[in-house]
Amino acid sequence: MGSKGILLIIAGVLVAYYVYSPIPYDIEERWKLMVTDSFFRSLSNLAEISELLGLKHYMGVMMFLTIAEEVVPASDDSVKVTDALFYDVPVVVYEPKRKTNGELNRAVIFIHGGGWCLGSARMGPYDLLSRRTAKELNAVIVSVDYRLAPAYHFPVQFDDVYNVVKYIVQDHVLSQYSVDVKRIAVSGDSAGGNLAAAVAQQLQEDPEIQVDLKAQVLLYPALQALDMNTPSYQQNEHMPILPKTLMVRFWSEYFTSDLSLFHAMMSNSHNSLESAHLLKFVNWSVFLPEIFRLKYNYTMPSRKSSDPSEMISAIIDPRASPLLVDDVKLQVLPKAYILTCEYDVLRDDGVMYATRLRRAGVQVTLEHFKDGFHGAMMLTTWPTSFEVGHRMVNSYIKWLDNNL
Ligand SMILES: *[C@@H]1O[C@H](CO)[C@@H](O)[C@H](O)[C@H]1NC(C)=O
Ligand SMILES: *[C@@H]1O[C@H](CO)[C@@H](O)[C@H](O)[C@H]1NC(C)=O
Repeated sequence: MGSKGILLIIAGVLVAYYVYSPIPYDIEERWKLMVTDSFFRSLSNLAEISELLGLKHYMGVMMFLTIAEEVVPASDDSVKVTDALFYDVPVVVYEPKRKTNGELNRAVIFIHGGGWCLGSARMGPYDLLSRRTAKELNAVIVSVDYRLAPAYHFPVQFDDVYNVVKYIVQDHVLSQYSVDVKRIAVSGDSAGGNLAAAVAQQLQEDPEIQVDLKAQVLLYPALQALDMNTPSYQQNEHMPILPKTLMVRFWSEYFTSDLSLFHAMMSNSHNSLESAHLLKFVNWSVFLPEIFRLKYNYTMPSRKSSDPSEMISAIIDPRASPLLVDDVKLQVLPKAYILTCEYDVLRDDGVMYATRLRRAGVQVTLEHFKDGFHGAMMLTTWPTSFEVGHRMVNSYIKWLDNNL
């Protein structure tokens, strides 16, 4: 064998080593996920290097994920698609073309994921999901293109989405799109689920808005930034698509580009006197069913005496961490569909919120996918189409059809 042959073998071993990451056996299509994940990891490594060299911000490189999948949403036989600005926030509106004998439409305000830093309503998978939801529910879907970090930090993302909701519930807008004000839902995945939950809460607090949402849909949502060491963070620290480092980077970047917050959150040492009294709302030893906490012993996150950085006031703001409100504020919330995945650092955020909402008397459907992983709902097209993603989308649309 010549030196070329040896080089080929070495290259092959290196690629195999890179592609291979241990993936639990109850996840289907493991090889496909390994390859998909190796792409995500390569991009993330490239982003880290470019940041170290001072070439580009980490998220600037990760943004490739969004740009590569960007489409121009266009009308088709059954759905009319238009771009619009709702109080200066860009949205894509999907309207069903089917005639309904003057009956008003249901509406879903959809908020895409991407850790408040990435993503767009104009990504192929989101376009597909909104289009399909519009068609199958015969509903109006408003998909929001809110501004992103690091160019904009909290609460800009929240404010953009909130403004879109305020815009829609005006009488003349409702009638323009033939929307039934009693049948509006907010929905979002991941960071979008975070924003959806926050919007649902803040609407109840807002004296200017008398509209009650019919439903809230939280698809593997991020709901708290106080405890980065829940059992699901521990169990899924290195899981594909969303390892703990990336999720913590998203959280810290939502608040600030100062990396000291990232490092403090990674070691779960970012709490302080100001947040200590809120730790009870994310106490997973109280809010998780036994199956999820069995192998783990609860330790309270450590606390500094005080946080002079002012960052803590953003971290404990319920518009960022919807799990941090007391039960009185949960009682008034609309019924909820919460989707969680076993192999997801955010699993326990969703499960804890489900427990807390139920205890407060809110009707909750908790759909837990035992073989699910974070982001699967966006992996439904070739060459990264996952059967579990299709099952999630079907479950989501079915629930909306029955509950909106
Ligand atoms: C969390 O709950 C445990 C009981 O399961 C309790 O001992 C602990 O003090 C609680 N911690 C907080 C911060 O509420
Ligand atoms: C949890 O605590 C129990 C009792 O102290 C101990 O036996 C067990 O090994 C601990 N488990 C872990 C994962 O630390």
